Amino acid sequence: MHNRVVAFAPGRVEILGNHTDYNEGVVLSAAIDCGVTASVHRLRQRQIEVSSQTNQRTASAHLDELSPSATEPWANYCFGVIRELMAVRWPVLGLGIEIASDLPVGAGLSSSAALEVATAFAAIDLANWSLPPMKIAQLCQKAENEFVGVKCGLLDQASSIFGEDNRAILLDFRSIAAQTYQLPDGVSLLLLNSGIPHALTGGEYNERREQCQAAAAALQVTALRDTTTTQVLNSDLDPLVKRRALHITGENERVFAGREALLAGDVDAFGELMFASHESSRHNFENSTPNLDALVEIAKSTNGVIGSRLTGGGFGGSTVSLIRSEVAQKIIDSMQKKYLRATGAQCSAILTRPSQGARILRRD
Ligand code: GLA
Repeated sequence: MHNRVVAFAPGRVEILGNHTDYNEGVVLSAAIDCGVTASVHRLRQRQIEVSSQTNQRTASAHLDELSPSATEPWANYCFGVIRELMAVRWPVLGLGIEIASDLPVGAGLSSSAALEVATAFAAIDLANWSLPPMKIAQLCQKAENEFVGVKCGLLDQASSIFGEDNRAILLDFRSIAAQTYQLPDGVSLLLLNSGIPHALTGGEYNERREQCQAAAAALQVTALRDTTTTQVLNSDLDPLVKRRALHITGENERVFAGREALLAGDVDAFGELMFASHESSRHNFENSTPNLDALVEIAKSTNGVIGSRLTGGGFGGSTVSLIRSEVAQKIIDSMQKKYLRATGAQCSAILTRPSQGARILRRD
């Protein structure tokens, strides 16, 4: 039996398929090469103690009285996961967790899912246990939905777990399955943080979710996965709800087209789908911001950028661009300069390729 287990879970980038996960749709995503490390050890009391190197804070609670902390909300992701593990009879008496992260918070790269998944991987391994990977993703999602109170879909947790080097993940949220596809050589993913923090706890995310449900109900389908852009266009949905639905059907269609483009090695076709995705966010789903729009406009006029769109929930956060690796630094310098000129704001950059998903780093 090990005394200490260290696990790492990466952040994720959604490459195509925006807000489709909770509509039983499809997404192309990837794990990235930064994330959260959780180092766990047993405690002899029925206690959970979490400390974070990132914000230099600690939080603790009795394991039998876990309830969301109002003063240390960052710790709720760990508390929530441990509560879900206890519900499936995880056998550890008490747990100490030390957290470190190189993922920016609020950039829309799923630092919260990475924290949940790192905690779950480490805690499960410490107990000498194993659970199917998709089950771990669902358990973490449940923690976020019920304990943290954010009604996110399964995308972030599943992407953090199913990532593979140089491969995009196609997640199907109806069959709850993951498959990966090679990203052609010579291209990279550039993440640019608009500097406007994104917080899923804001009401917009849940509101969009309700509008999608309303659209599915009015169209008499189980979920928007069951309808197409043509059917929505020909429907008599209320104009706003219709635009919301068009975003989802369009995104599902673009994900399947994106898979074909990847299989054909056609990066230009893939890039066009990314630009179309952003346009649909801007116009149909209205989850973009002027700063995200500025980043995508700048991307369009920058040599070596193949495609670009907002990534994740929206309402702030980052864009993802598919770029030619050989001119990456030139692209970053030029886009940062143009962004500063256009908005007066700085955008930090992360240059990445799809990377391996969550894993155990060390057992002592
Ligand atoms: C956030 C949520 C995900 C997903 C995306 C939008 O990242 O956590 O579940 O809905 O937004 O695609």
